Amino acid sequence: MGWPFDDKDALHKELGPIFTIVTPAGLEVTVADPHVTNAVFAKRKEFIKPAVMYDQLNVFGRNLNTVEGRDWERQRRLTAPNFNERTSATVWNEAKRQANDMLGAWLEHGSRGTRDTVADTATLALHVLTRVGFGLTYSFHEGVRKVPPGHQMTYKEALSTCLGNIITFAIFPRGLLSKPLMPRALRYVGLAAREFQTYMEEMLSHERAVSANHPAGSNNLVGALVRASDNQEQSQGRPSLTGPQSLTDDEIFGNIFAFNLAGHETTANTIASSLVLLAANPSYQSWLAEEIDRVWDRDSANYEDIFPGLKRCLAVMYETLRLYGSIVFIPKSTGVHAQSVTLGDRSYLLPPRTAVNINVQALHTDQKIWGEDALQWRPSRWIDNFKPPLSVVGAESDKGVEQLINPGDGTYIPWADGPRVCIGRKFSQVEFVGVIASLFSKARVRPLLEGKDSGDDGHRALMKMVDESAIFAITLQMKNPRGIALMWEHR
Ligand code: HEM
Repeated sequence: MGWPFDDKDALHKELGPIFTIVTPAGLEVTVADPHVTNAVFAKRKEFIKPAVMYDQLNVFGRNLNTVEGRDWERQRRLTAPNFNERTSATVWNEAKRQANDMLGAWLEHGSRGTRDTVADTATLALHVLTRVGFGLTYSFHEGVRKVPPGHQMTYKEALSTCLGNIITFAIFPRGLLSKPLMPRALRYVGLAAREFQTYMEEMLSHERAVSANHPAGSNNLVGALVRASDNQEQSQGRPSLTGPQSLTDDEIFGNIFAFNLAGHETTANTIASSLVLLAANPSYQSWLAEEIDRVWDRDSANYEDIFPGLKRCLAVMYETLRLYGSIVFIPKSTGVHAQSVTLGDRSYLLPPRTAVNINVQALHTDQKIWGEDALQWRPSRWIDNFKPPLSVVGAESDKGVEQLINPGDGTYIPWADGPRVCIGRKFSQVEFVGVIASLFSKARVRPLLEGKDSGDDGHRALMKMVDESAIFAITLQMKNPRGIALMWEHR
């Protein structure tokens, strides 16, 4: 599953920017060419998501991540407006609140340090999602760890068990999992699915009740999905010729799960890996602190004024996603028709049902795109003083003001691209920057190595920890995230 992470662009150096694996089961084309990548992303109707890989994500209902054609157009039209600036402001405030509490806990550990970076950032990301998704506010310390009346599991336990067992759901139908004859471990997964379904049903009834009493409804993603859907139904009055225009309850459940699936581990792991990388590279902490001290206003630090100025913080996210992004390849398929791709001055016809895998990791590590130090984690490459082969946006007009560079089309795709670009891209950016700026406005972090000097040894040990990442279920994660403790201290 995760070979592109280990291989980087080595196989493409040997075989070229595109190669085909010919197997008895079909053809598998692997792409690391920016122009072809861009064309594949742009043509969403021609290059579709392979159903065999995505159907398993329909455990709770068909959702934006899994549907195609008119269904996708309808679902995207109803969900996209909710990922707006109002949502970003809520993400920002919750991310800051959670990060401050998390930092408080880490500072309390003092010289013992913490080995819980991954677990704690996962809790933080979950709390941001529950606040923005459902309007439920949890404290970092207690949060969704309590079992509410009428439930046998916490929301967090139910959700993370479901997220970690996507493959199990692909093999066993949900109903079968809870049968008494099934092994205990599988029955537990079945219980988690039932519990998560019940939590979602409770949230949906709550949102319907709120919107019945207050037409503006509540300010969260589920509320917005319910309103968008119910309003469409009312305004139509009769069935549309092009099929349904609203979301069914199952599609709402499917999308709640999809936002969690697509938005939880991805964002949490990006934050956790960045913290390890920053601990390994203290000079970048000073680089960040310089920007944060200039831009961050401790009293207000509101989203609209502060977020746009924190470019170095965003650069850290971009650089971590370039080398340690959650998704190392993006699978597409030619579907039932043949499709052509153009490489250089030649066109190639790909037969029906050809798998077309975009090799994200190879594109992100190609020296022709990123320069000789392509494999080095260097966030400053994203700021405007890094010259060709990347074009600089706004450097001419804004001399002296730092700008983020804009890499060429098809070269940088951690959130995919084209019409099916990640709907939570801005959400994750705002969360990341809110967390990083909150932490480094007050504190610094370093590795705790027993009996060793924490200078070069610390750098090497932490880089090894992130370099030894692998795909678990569907995202890239550090294999041994508790390997080295991190110690936080006031700046
Ligand atoms: C660093 C964080 C994130 C990364 C790296 C990321 C990455 C991606 C990628 C690569 C895709 C395309 C997947 C494919 O084609 O199979 C995608 C799609 C999607 N993402 Fe994200 N994502 C992130 C955060 C989020 C968040 C926070 C949410 C929601 C709250 C979210 C919701 C979605 C959804 C619903 C789709 C499907 C969009 C569609 O097909 O129209 N993602 N994401």
